[in-house]
Amino acid sequence: MQYTLITGASMGIGKALAEECAKEGMHLLLVALPGPELDQVCQDLVARYGIQAHPFAIDLTLEDAPRKVYDWSQTNGYEVNILINNAGFGTGGLFENTPLATYINMVRLNNQALVEMTYHFLPELKRHNNAHLLCLSSMEATLPLPYKAVYTGTKNFIYSFCLAIREELRPSTVRVSILCPGPVLTNPDGLKRIESQGGKGQILMTMPEKVAKIAVKKMLQNKAIIIPGALPIAIVRVLNLLPILWRMRILERVFRPYRDM
Ligand SMILES: NC(=O)c1ccc[n+]([C@@H]2O[C@H](COP(=O)([O-])OP(=O)(O)OC[C@H]3O[C@@H](n4cnc5c(N)ncnc54)[C@H](OP(=O)(O)O)[C@@H]3O)[C@@H](O)[C@H]2O)c1
Repeated sequence: MQYTLITGASMGIGKALAEECAKEGMHLLLVALPGPELDQVCQDLVARYGIQAHPFAIDLTLEDAPRKVYDWSQTNGYEVNILINNAGFGTGGLFENTPLATYINMVRLNNQALVEMTYHFLPELKRHNNAHLLCLSSMEATLPLPYKAVYTGTKNFIYSFCLAIREELRPSTVRVSILCPGPVLTNPDGLKRIESQGGKGQILMTMPEKVAKIAVKKMLQNKAIIIPGALPIAIVRVLNLLPILWRMRILERVFRPYRDM
């Protein structure tokens, strides 16, 4: 039996992706931090969609955690044909105002764990004819955001990494997609950041369910870069046409409200 494995699936975009995949009839392996939400999500999706869903609670920033996820799937005979690297977090504010430990954790989760998960599961994905790898980057991957410097860097890493291995994997059965949403209303921190942008943030804001619906559809169509929504697509295109120094000045001005977060 084939499974879709989703990290960070207990809430937010990951939970919405799990529901969208369940609607498509996919069986699920859901990974998140220990807590009651993950079990709840699995039970709910099994009851509503008649699929199989198994939870694995682990902190992906701990040493060798992705290997433990892989070992768990192998021990139980769960064959993974779709891997969705979704778990990640960000902070806003002047670079030097956030503790270094937070940045280290961010890089570990957003980048190191993602690379390790991909590395461990790739041979397994390659065994399937209908294999997909979907990674969560962000609309800001190509628009470095002042006052979110480390987060924006981790998302740019994911963007470059996925584009590169998509080309490497073109002769194989594995199709690689990058999901680059604009602001999505998921957790209270995100809401605070979106509100600090006033009207601008709210115009762009979207709901996790909408992002997930577009993401799963486009992933199955083998779209390389998935930016949900016409307005985020237009903004990314227009800003990327500008000379980089102008672009950075504009972004600094727009994101100045994040400075003291
Ligand atoms: N929200 C946005 O505006 C937005 C925009 C663009 C891109 N993204 C990206 O989309 C992804 C999901 O964002 P979100 O807003 O949906 O996040 P979220 O609501 O905060 O949910 C994060 C998920 O990741 C899990 N998680 C956090 N730390 C973990 C760890 N150390 N080990 C294992 N699992 C961990 C959480 O598990 P627990 O619940 O168990 O803690 C939760 O299931 C992230 O990569 C984010 O960068 C978000």
